[in-house]
Amino acid sequence: MEINVSDCIEVDTNPFFQSCAGNGKVTVRLNEHTYRPQYDLSNDWLSFAYRAFRSLRYLLEKEDMEVKKFVSVGSGCGIDVLGAINILGVQKIIALDIHPRVLPLIQANVVANLDKKVSLELEVRESDVLSGLATRDGKVDLIYENLPNLPLPENDGLLDGIKTASFVDTSLYSCPPIIQKHLLTLHFQCLIQARHYLAINGSVINSIGGRIPRYVLDETFHQAGYHAKVLVLGLKPQTEIEEVLPGYVLAENSSEVKFSFYRLDNFTSELPCIIYGYSQNFDEQAFLASIEAYKVNATEALALYRKGIPIGHTVYMFRAKLKDGRDISQNFQ
Ligand SMILES: C[S@@+](CC[C@H](N)C(=O)[O-])C[C@H]1O[C@@H](n2cnc3c(N)ncnc32)[C@H](O)[C@@H]1O
Repeated sequence: MEINVSDCIEVDTNPFFQSCAGNGKVTVRLNEHTYRPQYDLSNDWLSFAYRAFRSLRYLLEKEDMEVKKFVSVGSGCGIDVLGAINILGVQKIIALDIHPRVLPLIQANVVANLDKKVSLELEVRESDVLSGLATRDGKVDLIYENLPNLPLPENDGLLDGIKTASFVDTSLYSCPPIIQKHLLTLHFQCLIQARHYLAINGSVINSIGGRIPRYVLDETFHQAGYHAKVLVLGLKPQTEIEEVLPGYVLAENSSEVKFSFYRLDNFTSELPCIIYGYSQNFDEQAFLASIEAYKVNATEALALYRKGIPIGHTVYMFRAKLKDGRDISQNFQ
């Protein structure tokens, strides 16, 4: 595979793991199709993924379980795979992404930042959701999905530019209307397809921008046949606002749904504010109530942003486990 690189950046992973370079940093190669992580991860989406891996490691230790086979879908430049290797100790990895031009970067970035003593099986495959997996791959202990919400605009080609927030035509996928209207189609499809591959005690980590009412998130897991628990929840600044928010405004204008964003100008605490699902003090309702006064819909958020007001959104990292082994995937093909 030809590798197309336009940039090379350093990311400080020190708060989460020490890279093999020994200075706690990883260097990743990027191109115009990849999401660009920040050097300081404290406000970056990636910090939520890494916190979720740490939370899961804690839970797995208590359950006396380990992750032998790991799948990442929506892998981008591969920096979240590096987190799974370093935090969860995964060694058998299948990394999937729909974009053919990011695939060579995953391999290159993982290999370049890996301690040579670690023995690893890494396969990188082009895949629409989990279509790149096959029965011969055997059962998987953990699937981490970082899939986007927004449907690709009609006149936009999949291979153009950066596709971190949007994906292929949603009408290709079958999904209950309430989930589809709230732009969770790809997350739902991933859960449905994961049913074929998950080991009995396996989990899916779903990373979802929580701009969606909580009951719709519950409904998504319920209808796909999973129990889900929060690993990590927090509020962070919205990045790439001019690329992302118009998609949510369009969805608000074409149906009666409203998405949740937060104005951050009156927000006194340092961001991101984070709570952990496994901790005894976890109180999701109290957390959401504490930020409720700052809540605005997508249309209001875009107007505020254009007046110079900073905007944020919540991020959820869920651990979803199958309720039962029943195969309901044919209902949603
Ligand atoms: C939000 S980005 C995340 C990238 C990466 N995890 C990171 O943090 O840098 C979403 C990724 O999902 C990929 N993607 C979009 N639609 C997809 C689909 N239907 N199946 C698999 N991957 C998809 C995009 O190419 C993009 O790399």
